[in-house]
Amino acid sequence: METLLLKANKESITLACKLLKQGEIVAIPTETVYGLAGDCTNGEAVKKIFIAKGRPQDNPLIVHISNMNMLNGIVSEVPTDAKLLAKHFWPGPLTIIMPRGESICDETCAGLDSVGVRMPSNEIARQIIEESGIAFSAPSANLSGKPSPTTAQDVFEDMNGKIPLIIDGGSSQAGVESTVVSILGDTPVILRPGVITKEMMEKVLGKNVEIASEVLEGVKDDSKVRSPGMKYKHYSPKADVTILKGDLQKFTEYVKSKASADTFVLCFDGEENLFSVKAVSYGNKNDPNSQAHNLFSALRELDKEHAKVVYARCPDITGVSLAVYNRLIRSAGFKIIEL
Ligand code: TXA
Ligand code: MG
Repeated sequence: METLLLKANKESITLACKLLKQGEIVAIPTETVYGLAGDCTNGEAVKKIFIAKGRPQDNPLIVHISNMNMLNGIVSEVPTDAKLLAKHFWPGPLTIIMPRGESICDETCAGLDSVGVRMPSNEIARQIIEESGIAFSAPSANLSGKPSPTTAQDVFEDMNGKIPLIIDGGSSQAGVESTVVSILGDTPVILRPGVITKEMMEKVLGKNVEIASEVLEGVKDDSKVRSPGMKYKHYSPKADVTILKGDLQKFTEYVKSKASADTFVLCFDGEENLFSVKAVSYGNKNDPNSQAHNLFSALRELDKEHAKVVYARCPDITGVSLAVYNRLIRSAGFKIIEL
């Protein structure tokens, strides 16, 4: 299949809508990462998403809407906490897990009786939903296991020949995927951290928000997994990544003792020249939003540089940094060394 890569404009958006209505899948920009979109009510369309990504079939997809009326049929009810969260954070990078409605195809929910929904703020994504009238299921538009795409070029690398169209809307603003929160129990639980933080949601809801243990650790017991996506190897460049926890001096000494020709460092801005090996920065040490914005493109750059071994500086574990840490520990296969 030939894959068209078109800049977002009136014509390309109309073509995307046409393809979606025909049950095709299209890669589109969102404010978090690029998504691979298909009609959420059309099982055959959603199957194509799983095939193009090589995604395990038990990992459900997020449904994207552009206004609150679209929730009819997608969810069976909108609980109070969901209403409050939607009011404050939609449109924006927050996915809310709610009871599943009757119009969603089984493939989207991967057999669960719940569905994750979000209203993106990206104007191109919103226009496509509005013009097509289609709420679309969309995972990140990467091959399963690889870092999520934050540019149309990233998508092209993974999806060329597999999908008919990629809409280029420039680089994704947030750079990490949406926060996923489940409000199915009494206490809301963050299943995946993002730029909407626990503290931000607690302020709006006036109650405690939990962070699922899987966010910081690997999944130990499959049967207890609340977010199926947490089970799988994720965000991995080809290199063997290890996170080194400790100050910059200890980090530098450790890297020096281990360095070989294929060794790289994943560091913060301004540190690039301190090491005996090549370095790629993933943002400003004191600005977690810049780290979120840059992390996936830095991981993809390491592949382009043919890095084999990567030592990464460790981000903080609070606020927006938690989202960065959550992605980085997965790309490192949970290999962390305390210096
Ligand atoms: O920012 C985003 O959310 C991007 C853009 C494209 O919108 N999408 C995205 O989708 O990251 P994906 O498929 O890569 O990640 C969806 C995550 C997975 O970890 C999945 O297991 C979880 O959300 N998820 C989806 N539906 C769920 C449900 N009903 N219950 C629990 N977890 C769910
Ligand atoms: Mg993904």
